[in-house]
Amino acid sequence: MIASPKNIDAVKKYTAVRNHSLAICAPLEIEDYVVQPIVDVSPPKWHLGHTTWFFETFILLPNFPGYTVFDPQYNFVFNSYYETIGARVIRTDRGNLSRPSVSEVYRYRKYVDEQMEIFLQSEHMKQALEPLLELGLNHEQQHQELLLTDIKYILGHNPLFPAYTKEKSPEAEISKASGMIPFSEGIYEIGFQGDGFCFDNELGRHKVFLHDFEIANHPVTNGEYLEFMEAGGYHDFKHWHAEGWDWVKENKAESPLYWHSIDGKWMQYTLYGLQELDLEQTLCHINFYEASAYASWKGMRLPTEAEWEVASDHFNWGNRWEWTGSAYLPYTGFKKEAGAVGEYNGKFMINQMVLRGASEATPSGHSRNTYRNFFHARLQWQFTGIRLAR
Ligand code: AVJ
Ligand code: FE
Repeated sequence: MIASPKNIDAVKKYTAVRNHSLAICAPLEIEDYVVQPIVDVSPPKWHLGHTTWFFETFILLPNFPGYTVFDPQYNFVFNSYYETIGARVIRTDRGNLSRPSVSEVYRYRKYVDEQMEIFLQSEHMKQALEPLLELGLNHEQQHQELLLTDIKYILGHNPLFPAYTKEKSPEAEISKASGMIPFSEGIYEIGFQGDGFCFDNELGRHKVFLHDFEIANHPVTNGEYLEFMEAGGYHDFKHWHAEGWDWVKENKAESPLYWHSIDGKWMQYTLYGLQELDLEQTLCHINFYEASAYASWKGMRLPTEAEWEVASDHFNWGNRWEWTGSAYLPYTGFKKEAGAVGEYNGKFMINQMVLRGASEATPSGHSRNTYRNFFHARLQWQFTGIRLAR
């Protein structure tokens, strides 16, 4: 059969996304691939296997007649949370698996990639499968960010503080002139519209009423956050939620993740190693409790996700995931998809907060101003920052 140009585009796109995961892991040593220092951090080897499993399970197996799975046992190891698909290794045990080995996981990737290339150019690649292919690619991109986030945690919690890369990537220019952008009360619309890909949680578009508000034109910097610390922010309950204050005490929290006070100097672990804290740089790795406490100390608050989205054309974003004051809940008109992929986002719409924007770890082009990221309020390990509102 003759491949149409469209199919060749699909193969190219598939290959480019898949190769980027390999590029992210290229600087790793074998040992780095396996450990799971905390439950939230998955071993890089697991990310590489799980994203591969996603294509195998949701695209090849149901749609490619005669497809043979690489290893029937991998379903147990690389299923993340899909009850529809069945039993799986518990999350805390991902780092206890010395097998499949790293080289076996790479062979798994190669096998599935070869099969996907054949499949995408075959008559079995029906138009109706395009959204699922897009989901698989966007899923891989989400795991590319998680890979970098988890690699940073793994290396950054090693007493040797090894660098992931020698090169310091220049930070996107942020506006130094701090200011607030005003918006007038009224009815606005939020949610995804248009032809491109979006996740189901960005639908459906709906009206919201907003009161007058102002939102900062720049994210909070390390220097600004340090003022909060030096003013005793971590020692004054009055700026903290009850849950946040419990977190401070239980963890003896005194600073953002990766900050170390060494010989009276603030140092910060970065992907290029332990560096002196740059006060001009955008704050990173704070949890929702810290973001809220800082905002309270400034006499302000975090923006709601609707305010953030409405205002997003008026400031530069993409440096850090920005905590919002909005709980992660379904939009009016949200519909769960049928089948296993219905488990993708909807079932997590409880006890998590929405983050907006993107970060230095987000693959370029992956996010958009309707994108709804979400994490638990206590988690610091993502590339998270603060934008104030009032
Ligand atoms: C949207 C980043 C919260 O980390 O579980 C990966 C992304 N979804 N595989 C997560 C995701 C399915 C998700 N976050
Ligand atoms: Fe996943």
